[in-house]
Amino acid sequence: MQPHPSPLVQVRQLSYSYPDGTKALDNINFEMSAGETVVLLGANGSGKTTFVLHLNGLLLGQGQVQVGGVTVTRATLNEVRRRVGIVFQNSDEQLFMSSVLDDVAFGPQNLGMPAEAAYGLARKMLQRVGLAGAEQKIPYHLSAGEKKRAAIAGILAMEPDVLVLDEPTVYLDPPGQRTLIELLRELPQPKIVVTHDMVLARAVGTRALFFEKGKIAGEGTVTQMMDQFGWDPGQAIPGAA
Ligand SMILES: Nc1ncnc2c1ncn2[C@@H]1O[C@H](COP(=O)(O)OP(=O)(O)OP(=O)(O)O)[C@@H](O)[C@H]1O
Ligand SMILES: [Mg+2]
Repeated sequence: MQPHPSPLVQVRQLSYSYPDGTKALDNINFEMSAGETVVLLGANGSGKTTFVLHLNGLLLGQGQVQVGGVTVTRATLNEVRRRVGIVFQNSDEQLFMSSVLDDVAFGPQNLGMPAEAAYGLARKMLQRVGLAGAEQKIPYHLSAGEKKRAAIAGILAMEPDVLVLDEPTVYLDPPGQRTLIELLRELPQPKIVVTHDMVLARAVGTRALFFEKGKIAGEGTVTQMMDQFGWDPGQAIPGAA
């Protein structure tokens, strides 16, 4: 692997409006170095998913996005997608093969890994996310949490340089949430984690950004952002344990 120039991810003056005119991102500036796990917080509709979809060119906005020194353009999509693996908020957008195992093996094969190695890696990753035994199931038939796990295994199998996870703990049962937190802590890659799950945010985040109406409204530690923006889910419920 080539050494990365620092910073690993650099976003300059990024703005994006959807075709219907919704301005979803408004002049975002962002940098991330190796070793960081950056948590993206913010209200529903504040632009977090739109932002991460720019990191591997699924959306191309105005401004500049660079990953490992490579500028994201139509011409660099293959290179960029090798480097940045995104676990989508909606798993149905991620899973499309006829078996779970084929699905997880697809990514590494698509990057040129021989089938035997890709299937070996896929089995290992399915085990890591607690899906051993589900290899031959049809992804569409999995439960929501199982789909999430399969999608995570599929991205891990591609061994990206940067991992982006959009709401990875949604649908996961509490043991599954804990396993995912442990897994994320073990994985050496820098990560961007979009989440409303404050247990996850606190457990993995080395830095947090708070999105508001398509802008970055605050930056600091997870705890600082939770305090500044009143982002503790239990705080306003009288009598809540
Ligand atoms: N395909 C689309 N067409 C038009 N508007 C869209 C589209 N996708 C998202 N939006 C709008 O863009 C804005 C940002 O949406 P985005 O999905 O990035 O928010 P988010 O911060 O990820 O929210 P959540 O926490 O609910 O996942 C919202 O106003 C949303 O309605
Ligand atoms: Mg979202």
